[in-house]
Amino acid sequence: MATHAHAPTTSPPADPTRTAPPRRGFDSLDVETRIDALPVEGRLPSWLSGSLLRTGPAKWEVGAQQMRHWFDGLAMLHRFAFADGAVSYANRFMHTRAWRAAAESGQIEYSEFATDPCRSLFQRVTAMFSPKISDNANVNLVKLGDRFVAMTETPIPVQFDARTLQTAGVAYDVPGMLTTAHPHMDRASKGMLNYAAKLGPRNSYRFFLVHPDSSSPRTIASKPVREPAYMHSFGLTERWLVLVEFPYVVNPLALALSGRPYIENYRWRPERGTRIHLFDRSSGEAVGPFQTDACFGFHHVNAFEAGDEVSIDLCTYPDPQIVQDLYLESLREGKPIAPATLERFRVNPASRAVARERLVEEPIELPRINYGRCNERRYRYAWGVGSASGWLDRIVKADLERGDSAVWMQEGCYPGEPVFVAAPGAQREDEGVLLSVVLDAGEGSSSLLVLDAATLSEIARAAVPHHIPFGFHGQFARE
Ligand SMILES: [Fe+2]
Repeated sequence: MATHAHAPTTSPPADPTRTAPPRRGFDSLDVETRIDALPVEGRLPSWLSGSLLRTGPAKWEVGAQQMRHWFDGLAMLHRFAFADGAVSYANRFMHTRAWRAAAESGQIEYSEFATDPCRSLFQRVTAMFSPKISDNANVNLVKLGDRFVAMTETPIPVQFDARTLQTAGVAYDVPGMLTTAHPHMDRASKGMLNYAAKLGPRNSYRFFLVHPDSSSPRTIASKPVREPAYMHSFGLTERWLVLVEFPYVVNPLALALSGRPYIENYRWRPERGTRIHLFDRSSGEAVGPFQTDACFGFHHVNAFEAGDEVSIDLCTYPDPQIVQDLYLESLREGKPIAPATLERFRVNPASRAVARERLVEEPIELPRINYGRCNERRYRYAWGVGSASGWLDRIVKADLERGDSAVWMQEGCYPGEPVFVAAPGAQREDEGVLLSVVLDAGEGSSSLLVLDAATLSEIARAAVPHHIPFGFHGQFARE
């Protein structure tokens, strides 16, 4: 849209097609770079010391072939390292086996979320005996003890060197075929809790704990299941592991034999409703399921116990249409995506009742909280990205006590997940900064935005010389 010399004094009516997904964020990035000091506007907090590490898809074309979905792009790591009021930047492709095979053959060699290179029956049968499970760890990363681990939803967590961004190998075993890239930290052991689905003649949901210096997880809870649901994350309270089983389910035989890409084997069965399972963290005992109406979601925000109830906060959608919305063809055509609702599910295990309430009006996705202080506990604030234009175009701070929200936005700018970093000695839950990679669609390049987490006012911005493709998750690591 052309800019006008005389801006109107009132906001123009929202036009959902006007700024819907800016294509630039879905362009592959081939440049790998290291920059000692990015140009900074404003002043970085002098206390901000450590690295924002992020993973995300960065290459959707391999030779003449094309990945089909946002989630399929080959993983790239990004690091913004802060010290003494300055920030450096580096990025590097993960040299996973999926990346290496693509680089060597010039073709997509591994199956991704919605892309499956196995075309012929012969190739499929061969793959069954020698499965080429992708290790394309483009979803999230965690620090486990001294190790940095990037992950996707296949059982191959990939260790990397946070300083050089070099890929190092498989971090630990996963007791199943499917898992999440959203583990939780176990406060007591400093280990990591995650979910896995074991598939075979008998299928089960499992939770496992990996100790900080171990590669062999311990399964701490499990439950048989006939048709596992697609679950991207789970919840944790002081007592419970929380599995919210959306009715988007798969017949494991179809996964092995259908010839369809992974996610296209899942079926929407709203008549099943949404089933909430609680697993006791110390005994492994499972209670539930507790049933409510059908919905879909990727992200748990937080969960906690309050009196007789367990509160479980989620970003929800009425159905899995969002999975379709995120196919590249649709995004690159500028079609809008479904907005997510921040909802609280209050489960009473004794009465089996499940109550649901919307917490704020503003849509919110890629949610973050003050994790160190509030995870498993009652909390007040969540931050995320919201959408009014049909794509993620604003940073939202949700006040769950007051039920309202504040917004940061700028015309033509598209922020990613806002990562909360607490200020040293912080008293308040929202005392700190948010770090978010923002694409300026007009400039065609990205910058790192630093906001005051309490007020959403801008503190500083550091410009990267190129665009950073839209990604998912990252973590701040103090060094
Ligand atoms: Fe996620």
